[in-house]
Amino acid sequence: VSQALTRISVIGTGYLGATHAACMAELGFEVIGLDVDRAKVESLSAGRVPFYEPGLEEVLARNLESGRLRFTTDYDEVAAFADLHFICVGTPQRDDSGAADLSYVKSSVEALAPRLDRPAVVIGKSTVPVGTAAVLAARIRELAPAGDAVELGWSPEFLREGFGVEDTLRPNRIVIGTDSPRVEAAMREASAPQIEAGIPFMVTDLQTAELVKISANAFLATKISFINAMAEVSEAAGADVMQLAKALSYDDRIGGKFLGPGLGFGGGCLPKDIRAFMARADELGVEPALSFLREVDAINQRRRARTVDIARALIGGGFAGRTVGVLGAAFKPNSDDIRDSPALDVASTIASLGAHVTVYDPEALERAEREHTELNYARSMLEAVRDAEVVLLLTEWSEFRDADPEELGKVVAERKIVDGRNVLDPAHWRARGWTYRALGRP
Ligand code: UGA
Repeated sequence: VSQALTRISVIGTGYLGATHAACMAELGFEVIGLDVDRAKVESLSAGRVPFYEPGLEEVLARNLESGRLRFTTDYDEVAAFADLHFICVGTPQRDDSGAADLSYVKSSVEALAPRLDRPAVVIGKSTVPVGTAAVLAARIRELAPAGDAVELGWSPEFLREGFGVEDTLRPNRIVIGTDSPRVEAAMREASAPQIEAGIPFMVTDLQTAELVKISANAFLATKISFINAMAEVSEAAGADVMQLAKALSYDDRIGGKFLGPGLGFGGGCLPKDIRAFMARADELGVEPALSFLREVDAINQRRRARTVDIARALIGGGFAGRTVGVLGAAFKPNSDDIRDSPALDVASTIASLGAHVTVYDPEALERAEREHTELNYARSMLEAVRDAEVVLLLTEWSEFRDADPEELGKVVAERKIVDGRNVLDPAHWRARGWTYRALGRP
């Protein structure tokens, strides 16, 4: 690693940025992380990760300790310190149009660029609509005192929440969009340990790099909705989608990953990314090319409605005044993220139909409590299902996968369960007197 590029800044310290900053320090670089949120900066500086991400706290602590990593709210400090800047701020959904909200990306560039008075490389990692990077590159040149000596590249991030550290240290590929040899060289230096380890490194133009990210997420969402569409057909035909998925997975052109039928996808990425992608295609005049993603979204939403219907049928006679136990609040296990959580969406709908709904989640309770006051919360799995007339398993935490039907059976009012993630063994639960229902299975 050359002296000139050992100093890195990471702008934005959410799921992506905090993980990226800590992992770059772990790889031996000197790193400064910036966030405009003082509370986040204070927490990270004290070695506390403000969200649940297995393994991250250890990496953070080790690198704060070594002095290679620190955090600030001060752009002057960042501009003076680093030669390579990564933009890792969020791009949430703007409104009902589905388009991406680029205000954080824009404001970070507007704050950073005027302070760049010597040559620097800026690399965007946020998920943005194709075409954004070229506009930002021009804006940076215009604002930076060093002018053309400040160059922008785009390197999308593919990390999964819950596997953030692993995915950042050992991504399955690194893509850098740029036509500048200097940006490419900077990215090669920053990725040297991964390149040495044989991880594919691809140089593309800016637009292709932006597209790689959003099309990867669109493909993953499509794969999940495909199998959930098969679940819908299976329900009507009396087939078993779990067996179907397994049989499909042996064809290695199809593969078994992301072919898990159930309540479908949520979170801060897949749902908003497919909507932003459609909105962008519309702007580019190729709306029909992505109209299938509207179906992907619709199939996904219908799984939530179907889960409510199955629970309603099981409980019999409507939800008003009934007691319902819900296992899971996070959008997926090993995360405390509740953004567009299918579990909370279902729980909330059932509560709106008049049921008394009690939710338990190993990590996401605090966040859920803050945002969903219509629900009740329990501190344990058993407490959540106490006196329940129906239990819904909506996020597949291992604690729920391993639940003992006998133990749960003793505290519920009725042994009835909806397995929204297809993770329980139906025979095992039925043998213990439970009425078991799942999505896509008889
Ligand atoms: C996703 C992508 O997997 C990452 O590669 C990407 O970097 C990230 O978005 C991003 O854009 O930042 P993430 O949102 O952390 O990562 O979650 P996933 O593990 O992809 O799961 C998404 C949703 O799909 C979850 O709600 C999960 O329960 C659901 N899912 C996943 C299924 O319903 N079935 C499956 O077979 C797999």
